[in-house]
Amino acid sequence: MSNLLKVHNINDNWQKSLDKSLSLGIYDDLKLNRQLQGVNRLLGRAISHNLSAGIIKGKLGEVTRIVGKKGSVAYVFGLGKKSQLTPEILRAASAGVAKACISDKIESVTFMMPIEAKDKLMSQAAAEGLVLGSYQFEEFKSNNDEAFEMSSASIFGGVEKAVNKGAVIASSVCFARNLENRPGNIATPTHLAKNAENISKASDVKVTVFDRKEFTEMGMGALAGVASGTEEPPKFIIMEYFKGPKSEKPKILVGKGLTFDSGGISIKPAAKMDEMKFDMCGSGVVLGVMRAISILKPKMNVVGIIPSTENMSGDKAYRPGDILTAYNKKTIEVLNTDAEGRLILADALSYACKNYDPEYILDFATLTGAVVVALGHVATGIMGTDPSLIADIKQSSCMTGEKVWEFPLWDEYLDQVKSKIADVKNLGTGGQAGTIAGGAFLKSFVDEGVSWCHFDIAGSAWGDKKLTYQNPGSATGEVIRLVIDLLKI
Ligand code: BES
Ligand code: MN
Ligand code: ZN
Repeated sequence: MSNLLKVHNINDNWQKSLDKSLSLGIYDDLKLNRQLQGVNRLLGRAISHNLSAGIIKGKLGEVTRIVGKKGSVAYVFGLGKKSQLTPEILRAASAGVAKACISDKIESVTFMMPIEAKDKLMSQAAAEGLVLGSYQFEEFKSNNDEAFEMSSASIFGGVEKAVNKGAVIASSVCFARNLENRPGNIATPTHLAKNAENISKASDVKVTVFDRKEFTEMGMGALAGVASGTEEPPKFIIMEYFKGPKSEKPKILVGKGLTFDSGGISIKPAAKMDEMKFDMCGSGVVLGVMRAISILKPKMNVVGIIPSTENMSGDKAYRPGDILTAYNKKTIEVLNTDAEGRLILADALSYACKNYDPEYILDFATLTGAVVVALGHVATGIMGTDPSLIADIKQSSCMTGEKVWEFPLWDEYLDQVKSKIADVKNLGTGGQAGTIAGGAFLKSFVDEGVSWCHFDIAGSAWGDKKLTYQNPGSATGEVIRLVIDLLKI
């Protein structure tokens, strides 16, 4: 059970959809426009009856199931204020329709675009919502009689290209969600590498994977240090897509691929430790974006880099107090083996700076519990070196509804990660400003003058957001859509 919903655009004959099922929107002014009037007539005035009974209010989040005279089904979804309709509202509405169809075991639905909102952005959002909203993670239920998946959806009156693009983007988000939801014994570094290789097959993405021996010899002492506590083979994965002009500098995406974080010798408490299977969600962002790129084939240069290992304890594990030497020869004093994400990213960021001439570097990591304290599960924490890159990221955040909030990287914070006996230490001072301490540490592995932004997705990568296009307790795939918007694919 992991077939994704297929979505396509249609421009005529929506009436045929009444044999199956149809969905259409209503604003909170409750006026019946010609679309609603037409469907109302075909349903034997069933919409009017629901309106006069006060069941349909046109509010956001509302989905009303209406059964017409001949048993045909329509879903009327609320769109709120007519003047305030946004792509995010439509995405949430189409996802709500998908969820209603699944609970009613409806195989296929036609989603009618609102008459006054049929542009590209709206079409893309409607398609994204249908696919994201119908996502379910059922891989490990061996005998699941209750399970039901929708097979297809049509969007009536959208912009075809944008509908197709939205479907590809959302299916890439679902691909990442599948990887992220898989537990640590399945989604190992080898599993991530295999998935990268699958993306490269029959596409223009070139994948290189370095194993423990290779990356250790190359000088990645920080990744090697974290990986020393596990026999599960660690990997350093590189995905290169060079379809832009040779003169164009590559954009580099780095993702934390920590497939299970026990904390190592500085072991975590037992409660919720299972959630540390999600500690590879940063790599999920990179794999999701690269998958979308491999299908949409934009003319640009993008490189994905994933340092991947488990963080385990044992007699081979690295210790608090150890000093590691990263790829750029900087030394790191390890004060807590649970601050391992920044260590494996240190090697990846310095590898990116040395081996490419990046236009910019973005990194994605479930880096700190502190970002959940600061922003909850509502937003991703960002910080970086280039105000104009950050401004573009905030713009893409607005476009996609994936919220970000910027933290400062002032010199005072950079001082807090200086070590007395090595170049830097992997903890800040006194547990203060934990998220910024993580960012400040990473900054010392980004070469001077390189444009870079760090995304701390520890709160947004999974959790309890009450959005119809996400499922509580399940991976969200957040910031994949934001990055695709930023790349202008
Ligand atoms: N993977 C965790 C961060 C995390 C914690 C993500 C909770 C999501 C929920 C990271 O490796 C970690 O353990 N960070 C430590 C850093 C600390 C030791 C400086 C943390 O946040 O407690
Ligand atoms: Mn940790
Ligand atoms: Zn971690």
